[in-house]
Amino acid sequence: MINASAAGSWKLGEVTVNRMGYGAMRITVNPDRDLAIRVLRRAVELGVNHIDTAGFYRTPGGPLNLDDGGSVRYANELIRDALAPYPDDLVITTKVGPGEDPERGFYQARTPAEIRAQVETNLRQLGVDCLDVVNLRIIKKPGADSIAERFGALAELRDAGLIRQLGVSNVRADHIDEAEAIAPVVCVQNGYAIDMRRDQDELIRLCADRGIAYTPFFAIAGTEREGGATNDHSEAVQAIATAHGVTPQQVRLAWTLHQSPNVLAIPGTGNPTHLEQNIAAGAIHLTPDELATVN
Ligand SMILES: NC(=O)c1ccc[n+]([C@@H]2O[C@H](COP(=O)([O-])OP(=O)(O)OC[C@H]3O[C@@H](n4cnc5c(N)ncnc54)[C@H](OP(=O)(O)O)[C@@H]3O)[C@@H](O)[C@H]2O)c1
Repeated sequence: MINASAAGSWKLGEVTVNRMGYGAMRITVNPDRDLAIRVLRRAVELGVNHIDTAGFYRTPGGPLNLDDGGSVRYANELIRDALAPYPDDLVITTKVGPGEDPERGFYQARTPAEIRAQVETNLRQLGVDCLDVVNLRIIKKPGADSIAERFGALAELRDAGLIRQLGVSNVRADHIDEAEAIAPVVCVQNGYAIDMRRDQDELIRLCADRGIAYTPFFAIAGTEREGGATNDHSEAVQAIATAHGVTPQQVRLAWTLHQSPNVLAIPGTGNPTHLEQNIAAGAIHLTPDELATVN
């Protein structure tokens, strides 16, 4: 069985991770809790040592009701139940910014107090004293759109020992500049795929020049976004998949990893077969000709 190390590794600030990781957003979709636990354990068994998550990733559905008898499952709690005590080399990257509470529903943390409350939620859900990596995930606004207060709040929590390393998500280059002036940034997590947001090519290079990891989400989903894997594959992608005897989704992932050594993949799945296929995609070698036909 192909191991996540086949994709190579990257030094994420102070820690080294395999470039093929796992995204936990989809782990609460299937009501079968045992299956979710199995998928998470299998990911680690297959060498995944970088898991992306968030405190608000939970069973899909209507408004949050904490009096519902415990049917709401959080990705973080599944991760803890499946993997704690955590392997020494496992890096769990979570995010703050978007949050949810029973009174307000979904909201965006704007104040240092809200950021701190979300960090504390993640600590509690994951059952740790210190979070490995926390991304500030923003909703961009045109024009002047400072993240200094929110990122500064995270930097203070890092100084206080609640977080080891910091990143930013859904950002532009000016946000990265602003954050780096406050504290080291180890990763940038933005939406990007073979057929989506190719303006990010330049941002990937900027991150590579600064030693920052670029972690794309929606590499498989593409323009379907939260809707799930796209079926809209180009002829070039289909042809490469046929030539390699793999699926178009695997080609999409392999293509992402070929863009730059600082690209870390975090494909999201609750399906054990897809998990194994995604990890195997880290071993697919695309030739310059193949990459050219896709581009
Ligand atoms: N920072 C942010 O704003 C942000 C936003 C979105 C996501 N994220 C993170 O990024 C991760 C990746 O994003 P994502 O999960 O939304 O999208 P994705 O990884 O591009 O695609 C996931 C979708 O594709 C399906 N899939 C996965 N592997 C497959 C395969 N080998 N063959 C066929 N279908 C496959 C999954 O369904 P199955 O479960 O059926 O496999 C799921 O519907 C998330 O899990 C989350 O951790 C971050």
